[in-house]
Amino acid sequence: MAESMKGLKRTCRCAELGEKDIGREVTVMGWVQKQRNKGSIIFVDMRDRSGILQIIFEDGEIDKEYFAKAEKLRSEFVIAVKGKVTARSGAVNENIATGAIEIRAKELRILSESDTPPFPVERNSKTKEDLRLKYRYLDLRRPDLQENILLRSRIAQIVRQFLVDEGFIEIETPMLTKSTPEGARDYLVPSRVHPGSFYALPQSPQLFKQLLMCSGYDRYFQIARCFRDEDLRADRQPEFTQIDMELSFVDEDDVIDVNERLIRKLFKEVLDIDIELPLLRMTWQEAMDRFGSDKPDMRFEMELKDVSDVVKNCNFAVFTDALKTGGSVRGINVKGQSSMPRKKIDALVKTAKDFGAKGLAYLAVNEDGTYKSSFAKFMQEDELKALVDAMDAKSGDLLLFAADKNKVVYDVLGNLRIQIAESLDLIDKNEYKFLWVTEFPEFEYSEEQGRYLAMHHPFTMPFEEDIVYLESTPEKVRARAYDIVLNGTELGGGSVRIHQDDIQETMLKALGFTKERAYEQFGFLLDAFKYGVPPHAGLAYGFDRLVMLMARQDNIRDVIAFPKVKDASCLMTNAPDKVEDVQLDELGIQVKEAEDKQ
Ligand code: AMO
Ligand code: AMP
Repeated sequence: MAESMKGLKRTCRCAELGEKDIGREVTVMGWVQKQRNKGSIIFVDMRDRSGILQIIFEDGEIDKEYFAKAEKLRSEFVIAVKGKVTARSGAVNENIATGAIEIRAKELRILSESDTPPFPVERNSKTKEDLRLKYRYLDLRRPDLQENILLRSRIAQIVRQFLVDEGFIEIETPMLTKSTPEGARDYLVPSRVHPGSFYALPQSPQLFKQLLMCSGYDRYFQIARCFRDEDLRADRQPEFTQIDMELSFVDEDDVIDVNERLIRKLFKEVLDIDIELPLLRMTWQEAMDRFGSDKPDMRFEMELKDVSDVVKNCNFAVFTDALKTGGSVRGINVKGQSSMPRKKIDALVKTAKDFGAKGLAYLAVNEDGTYKSSFAKFMQEDELKALVDAMDAKSGDLLLFAADKNKVVYDVLGNLRIQIAESLDLIDKNEYKFLWVTEFPEFEYSEEQGRYLAMHHPFTMPFEEDIVYLESTPEKVRARAYDIVLNGTELGGGSVRIHQDDIQETMLKALGFTKERAYEQFGFLLDAFKYGVPPHAGLAYGFDRLVMLMARQDNIRDVIAFPKVKDASCLMTNAPDKVEDVQLDELGIQVKEAEDKQ
């Protein structure tokens, strides 16, 4: 039976108590972690979000009525205990903050009982995640998740304070809006008042923050919820949070400067880590050439090398065919792995194929200087030597080569590089290596759609000297866009925006927009630009990713209170779910073939 807490007032949280409090009368409230009944003495570990505290109920010392209640306590009961802080009678527990003290209870109330929980509420849970997500409210009681959630709140506070101090204004933008062209699928919300019409949930506040610049709020920020209907991954959720900002009368250096100081402050205050400024900057082309990725993990080397020139005259058709069709041959040097067993090499070949390669050529430089290779037989001795030299290979090294279109070669070697580093444990998990990647291509060609798409978004300013290529050779146009990368994760991205009509018009034309369609989609922005628009630029961080990396977690779900799973559903609420026919009627919606699909 649940009792009231009338007449009792919590004096502090459990783990706020320590040796300094010995002798104090306190009232604590929280959950029973564990009850151990030793006959005349009952030990209870009590938990709240601060930690664990040991409570002692001793027969004779406490009223019979309370002792009887203590005997009934089970895990996850919510209790209030009034008692005295004393030095621990038994051995000091070094594992918990309150290990040197205990409370000798004088009064106990059971505020709420609990069914046996479906899994124990404990750190490093071994319970399958699906079950934990179904009972997320219990999962969230676990100390490791609580630490992540508290950290998240703290990071948000520091970011907010920093930006406010820097003269930013926090402004909310609508959730029910029109589609924002960020490239993912939209979540749509049907309108009741306008049957057949739909709002889109924002993929980002992009257009609104640009409008705010037009309105003179020259430094805006928002910790903004965003929605993207895309396939989930470890660092992707359908709804996620951005730290979003936009600044007027600035260029990329101003945006980078304020953000570097933000990062330095955050890492110092939260993790006591000194981040050296300025952060490294690298062009997109250099990142691709050296690491095969636009978000390179800089915690280890194993850089790509272009050996196209070295192999261009050899007799290995795999290499020369790739070169003839405009591709390249590149390799990575896996140091000291010449004796990698065949089975493992085969697994790497398979990975390469998963990333689109037709194969993966290898050459191991044996300790005795001889070679073991899948293609040596097609090459002259001096060609092999030149290749080994070009790769800086020493005895004992393993070389892996991909030959294909550049895009495939980058993708294959970039991903292999990471997979190999992980499997060989080459990555120092305690390191934080930041990097700005700049000068992204403005466009990428979509084979699927048969046209150019904006790599960042259609409002990103091209390099001035590249504007001439906008119509003729879009692939040559570099964008004034920048990403901030941390340990191989794209933490944030932004750009200097176009604020001139004519450039925006050419840009939209290059993207295949007719004037009508552009006006239909974001005419309000194009119109706004006719009434005095300041030069502006901005950036958005993936807030969840930032917290994930700062909390040293591998999955974004662990830093989100109520996340979704792979199929974008919520295991606790069962969202998304069917709705009543009357609701659909009101919206003028008829569901097509729902039965068939299931
Ligand atoms: P972008 O699309 O690069 O830029 O998004 C900014 C950052 O948001 C994070 N992010 C995500 N995090 C979790 N789940 C997702 N599904 C997800 N998608 C993106 C990433 C990414 O770097 N409006 C522009 C910003 C600007 O130009 O100012 C934008 O949204 O960390
Ligand atoms: P094959 O002549 O097809 O047996 O290939 C000889 C070697 O070249 C094998 O080790 C293949 O895995 C490798 N290979 C095939 N295609 C490629 C490619 N596009 N890039 C790199 N290596 C390849």
